[in-house]
Amino acid sequence: MNQESRIRLERVGKSFSAPAGAERGTAVLADVSLELASGEFVCLLGPSGCGKSTILNLIAGFERADSGEILLDGRAIRGPGPERGMVFQQPTLFPWLSVRDNITFGPRLAGQAPARYLPESERYLRLMGLQDFASHMPWQLSGGMRQRVALARAWLPNPEILLMDEPFGALDAQTRLAMQELLNEVWQTTKTTVLFVTHDVDEALFLADRILLMSARPARIRQELVVPFARPRDPEEMVTDSAYGKIKRDILHGVREEAAKALVPEPA
Ligand SMILES: Nc1ncnc2c1ncn2[C@@H]1O[C@H](COP(=O)(O)OP(=O)(O)OP(=O)(O)O)[C@@H](O)[C@H]1O
Ligand SMILES: [Mg+2]
Repeated sequence: MNQESRIRLERVGKSFSAPAGAERGTAVLADVSLELASGEFVCLLGPSGCGKSTILNLIAGFERADSGEILLDGRAIRGPGPERGMVFQQPTLFPWLSVRDNITFGPRLAGQAPARYLPESERYLRLMGLQDFASHMPWQLSGGMRQRVALARAWLPNPEILLMDEPFGALDAQTRLAMQELLNEVWQTTKTTVLFVTHDVDEALFLADRILLMSARPARIRQELVVPFARPRDPEEMVTDSAYGKIKRDILHGVREEAAKALVPEPA
């Protein structure tokens, strides 16, 4: 990798012990090594249960690895930090706070003066198309709008690294496409380093500079693919590119092969 790497996982292993009543724990990550360069957008694909969210939780500092190293700018990650933001599959908004108060929750909790964060939060409200909904409550919004609030909230503190766990997984196809385009636009202006988990190959091809495909559990990185399409990307143009079909087929093949392995019961 030419650019300096922000995040580095070096032979990371992670198991979870057996919960009460269960016989065996789960070996989730076997030997995962990956790097994120500064400003890079990387998508992580893999079968359900292979450990994608676990990787995000490790980088976020919510979980500790059993073996190997997880480095941020060359230093071991020991816990959560403000330079790493997370967006979950469900928007997890505070139901009793307005859209604006949800978005500004972090800086307000940190005791920042409104003059410091309000101009930027108004910018995100506009970027996310929420300027007319700033005083609405979460229950007055559609699912896609709620996810836009969650995105704005994660982006407002200007994290250096955004960890996104299937953020558009619960949205309908049209809203999802609109959100992908929006994310792409905002990312072009901020150049935040992003690690984005998805099950959707088209989504990964539209968003990512690089795609990492994980194997079935216990997981390692099975395949890496540099997405060759120039930016800015147009989803309609991309799917008619002569290279698109073959690349999509290659990834789908890998995803389906690993998903089939994941469905075979582990030996007793
Ligand atoms: N805190 C935890 N305690 C015990 N087991 C856990 C914990 N977190 C994850 N696991 C187990 O680790 C495995 C991987 O979970 P993870 O959520 O990382 O998968 P995933 O790849 O994100 O799956 P999906 O695509 O369905 O979201 C699963 O078997 C899960 O049960
Ligand atoms: Mg997950």
